[in-house]
Amino acid sequence: MKIVLIGFMGCGKSTLGRPLARALGYGFVDLDHHIEQCEGQTISEIFAQHGEQAFRSLESRYLREVLEREDIVISAGGGTPCFNDNMDYLATCATTVYIKLSPEMLVSRLEGAHTPRPLIRGKSHDELLEYVRHTLCDRERYYDRASIVVDNPARDVTRIINILKYDEK
Ligand code: S3P
Repeated sequence: MKIVLIGFMGCGKSTLGRPLARALGYGFVDLDHHIEQCEGQTISEIFAQHGEQAFRSLESRYLREVLEREDIVISAGGGTPCFNDNMDYLATCATTVYIKLSPEMLVSRLEGAHTPRPLIRGKSHDELLEYVRHTLCDRERYYDRASIVVDNPARDVTRIINILKYDEK
């Protein structure tokens, strides 16, 4: 089984993905981390030196590459399902889990985060809230196509596993 966690930046895809993979006895890939390792550059460097479009191409390519593996949990990037028909592709081969949080919760988590995120760098609280609301509105039509939508799961891996048991793909 291939499980791909999707959702907005800061929703906890990586935090949940690792223990979920461990609990299932699956491999785990954090897509951003994988791209950084393969490319020898951080996500911020890729954005700064090559631009967002180049990043989206790499993201799509590495997504397809890691999806070749069996029994894997993949934490996608926030934009992964929203570009280059990736959501269509995911629908053909993986169980997707949308980790759904409100804009207010996302902002509070993003403000406390240490991971550098080029798309929100330097934004004030109000700018960030506006950006999250606006971008989430655009992206939710992709996220909502997930096999499973989990509202506000905190660190509740058990709940996700229980839902997955009834949704084998
Ligand atoms: C992005 C989210 C990031 C990373 C890149 C772009 C986005 O991943 O892929 O900065 O477009 O939402 P996280 O969701 O893990 O922060």
